[in-house]
Amino acid sequence: MNLIYNIGLLAGIQPEDVLRVEGAAQGCTGMLENAWISIEDGRITDFGTGSCHPEQSEESLDAQGGMVIPGFCDSHTHLVYAGSRDGEFLDKINGLSYEEIAARGGGILNSADLLGRTSEEELFRQSMVRVQEVMDKGTVALEIKSGYGLCPEGEMKMLRVIDRIKRSIPAAVKSTFLGAHAVGRGYSHEDYVDMVIGLIPEAQKYADFIDVFCDEGFFTPEDTARILEATSLPAKIHANELAVSGGVEVGVQHGALSVDHLERTTEAQMEVLKGTGTMPTMLPGSSFFLGLPYGRAREFVKAGLGVALASDYNPGSSPSGDMRFVMAQGCIKMRLTPIEAFNAVTLNSAYAMGVSDRYGSVTRGKKAALILTEPGWDLTKLAYQYETPFIRKVFF
Ligand code: NIG
Ligand code: FE
Repeated sequence: MNLIYNIGLLAGIQPEDVLRVEGAAQGCTGMLENAWISIEDGRITDFGTGSCHPEQSEESLDAQGGMVIPGFCDSHTHLVYAGSRDGEFLDKINGLSYEEIAARGGGILNSADLLGRTSEEELFRQSMVRVQEVMDKGTVALEIKSGYGLCPEGEMKMLRVIDRIKRSIPAAVKSTFLGAHAVGRGYSHEDYVDMVIGLIPEAQKYADFIDVFCDEGFFTPEDTARILEATSLPAKIHANELAVSGGVEVGVQHGALSVDHLERTTEAQMEVLKGTGTMPTMLPGSSFFLGLPYGRAREFVKAGLGVALASDYNPGSSPSGDMRFVMAQGCIKMRLTPIEAFNAVTLNSAYAMGVSDRYGSVTRGKKAALILTEPGWDLTKLAYQYETPFIRKVFF
């Protein structure tokens, strides 16, 4: 057995049957001061209070008063991509919008061209640098999407790379087939949707989820429904980033695990989400980078809904996978309390990627995927002092 003792604050404790938190419950989390936690075979076996423990041994770890929390779960990333889009950064500074850059053949198509010229080995290597970066920042579970292939070979290359990452790292990885990210070069819109549907049987060999960029200028709710009806994979949908897109409704109708972005959600759509198994997921990093409105997280929670926050790590709208920055924006820009934001980047984001039975909280039987901080940290400081290094060790 492994033991961590002398923990200043153990936070993120949840009962076994709580797989997500909604409404007022999003503002609550179990905490113990002066605590210990025991781990066996990578699972949490027990925890309690007191500075010593009967089974304390030389192998036990002295937390020296640091905080222990569940590691971050990032339920929405596009971190497998080739090269960079830093050229477009200047276009953006000069005033071009995301849609204008895309309409000029930049954006997602630019990443697809780069990916086409990059070998599978090199794509893996470049992506692993980002994977290591986010694990070092405390991410213990992450979802990664395809969507920069935009042709059968490219999409399958991405799904194989994600699969290889899954088998190479200690963090949990879920893979999403996002063939419908943009219409690939040389296809008509209709032919492209047909291609995506035709590729599903092959993609399903690797993918855990299906996603569609259901938004103005990309794919319609009708395209989305056709794609979702062609697979039994659970859906995670890009909705309401650029416009009120209908993605929330089509996602909920198809039992989506999550609807993501939600920069522009209406009251009616909040009603549609109530009482469903679909996790509203907001991506403040893309609001920040693209200058979009921030999701209405405060109002969602007030309405009794749960909210997850994720990074959207990608080269075009959120070139960062820093979940503490996400948490800080959840507080500063979306008016979540630090505990609400913490639950949004742990338990609720674990739910949004289908792993909250194993990740996202301190619960007996769950994976001991934990962050041990330096002494003197608490959940408020985590979001408030969001740039200060805080991690002593990440356990997977
Ligand atoms: O979630 N919106 C669609 N996809 C990404 C952006 C992808 C890109 O620009 O490369 C997003 O923001
Ligand atoms: Fe995205």
